[in-house]
Amino acid sequence: MSNQLEKVQELIALRNEARLGGGEKAIQKQHERGKYTARERIAQLLDEGSFEEIDMFVRHRCYNFGQEKKSYLGDGVVTGYGTIDGRLVYVFAQDFTVFGGSLSETMALKICKIMDMAMKMGAPVIGLNDSGGARIQEGINALAGYAEIFQRNILASGVIPQISGILGPCAGGAVYSPALTDFTVMTKGISYMFLTGPKVVKTVTGEDVTQDQLGGAEVHSAKSGVAHFAASDGEETLKIIRKLFSFIPQNNLEEPPLVPCTDPIDRLEDSLNEIIPDSATRPYDMYEVIGAIIDNGEFLEIQRDYAKNIIIGFARFNGQAVGIVANQPKFLAGVLDSNASRKAARFVRFCDAFNIPLVTLVDVPGFLPGTGQEYNGVILHGAKLLYAYGEATVPKVTVTLRKSYGGSHIVMSCKQLRGDMNYAWPTAEIAVMGGAGAVEVLYAREAKESADPAAVLKEKEAEYNKLFCNPYNAARYGYIDDVIEPRNTRFRIIRALQQLATKKVVNPAKKHGNIPL
Ligand code: HXC
Repeated sequence: MSNQLEKVQELIALRNEARLGGGEKAIQKQHERGKYTARERIAQLLDEGSFEEIDMFVRHRCYNFGQEKKSYLGDGVVTGYGTIDGRLVYVFAQDFTVFGGSLSETMALKICKIMDMAMKMGAPVIGLNDSGGARIQEGINALAGYAEIFQRNILASGVIPQISGILGPCAGGAVYSPALTDFTVMTKGISYMFLTGPKVVKTVTGEDVTQDQLGGAEVHSAKSGVAHFAASDGEETLKIIRKLFSFIPQNNLEEPPLVPCTDPIDRLEDSLNEIIPDSATRPYDMYEVIGAIIDNGEFLEIQRDYAKNIIIGFARFNGQAVGIVANQPKFLAGVLDSNASRKAARFVRFCDAFNIPLVTLVDVPGFLPGTGQEYNGVILHGAKLLYAYGEATVPKVTVTLRKSYGGSHIVMSCKQLRGDMNYAWPTAEIAVMGGAGAVEVLYAREAKESADPAAVLKEKEAEYNKLFCNPYNAARYGYIDDVIEPRNTRFRIIRALQQLATKKVVNPAKKHGNIPL
């Protein structure tokens, strides 16, 4: 064998060793835990054969606790680039078979390297997390590594999309990297996120909780809002990430991909002309409206189980990706509260940062009243949504289906918040407040002094409703651009988006605004 061939053989042997991560036994253990390895995950995530690995020969450089005798090629994370549907993405996948995927100084350097490359090339970063946290043997160097990653997450925010898949433990300060990214997809049964684990919780507060109760996928997708998706298994987590990608651009200077549209743009949806119940207090399902107007009924909902009174997600109109924000009258009558406001505000900001037009469907009775909400800071949370819509410069199309009262009318992308095209159905009620509440204020004395207070209030309410609870009063002032036939909503939205394709609005120059956090 020639010298060169020998060296090639050595390279092949080293590569094979690196591909085994922490070794066959550790891989077997990983499988027994119901988890795939880092490389298996990358293969499932990316287009077949597209992955190019970087830094396969990196080893840790720690000499504490006998670490120098134990090191693995690649050191606990697999990094590189590849494609999803032919589009470039950068990936890191923590390798639990090497020191439990714990973060070392060199592992952080590997992750930072691909984050820097992603910024340079203007391509998204996907992080697949499965790690025991800071590598304890490395002490402060592991912490410094985390901080380097967080700093890059912050600088990349709003420049390139960042997505986190959680496929195992993600605890302690490590949770802040996913929290700084745009979307977090958790995996039921195998993933958890918390700042302090059950043992510390027990010591400090006396509370008995399991890992799942404290920070499992269900908890974070329904209660805390930390996770945007809760996938049923690892494969589904990666499928969701691929699907998310189809709606978003490579970076903040590009548009989302345009997809050929097979759904007629002028499709009339007759059912929408009869979807609003006669009684103002009876709900209908906003999902039916969304499904009826978007391309092929294909909706990727985000945070489905959190603050269900507002619906957010991606869809397409005539092949163009949009972000949909819609009140859900079927849940808490579609009222805005703290959680719904925060949920929608972050989504609006994501869409605005990445040139994704916003379609807002309004049926909102107001903000949820009471001490629970006020003590929780609903003023600030509502202001977040207001701020997000007002700041957004992407095309904004709003359709008011039924209620749109008071402050919530303003917050939900009204004309004065630079809504571009604001439509209303004939069933819209756009007013300062509902009829019953208004007459109680205006006619309380008159009712009290009359022989039949209820009759007075009823008569005045009917008068108020006739005058104000319709779309024409707002349309009269140009606050609504047109009152449209519900069945024609899809076509009118598509026309509006086509018109707005060349929209250019620039906000005043500033270092950054001061959103009410
Ligand atoms: C070094 C670690 C490690 C860590 C796990 N391992 N976590 N090595 N540093 N943080 C090693 C284990 O020693 C073991 O090595 C292998 O990884 C697999 O771990 P197991 O415990 O066998 O796996 P499992 O039973 O599935 O339990 C997983 C686990 C547990 C729940 C994550 O390992 C664990 O509790 N780890 C410690 C978590 C932790 O406290 N991390 C530090 C937090 S401080 P062998 O050789 O036996 O296979 C922190 C601060 C970050 O993260 C701040 C950022 C700002």
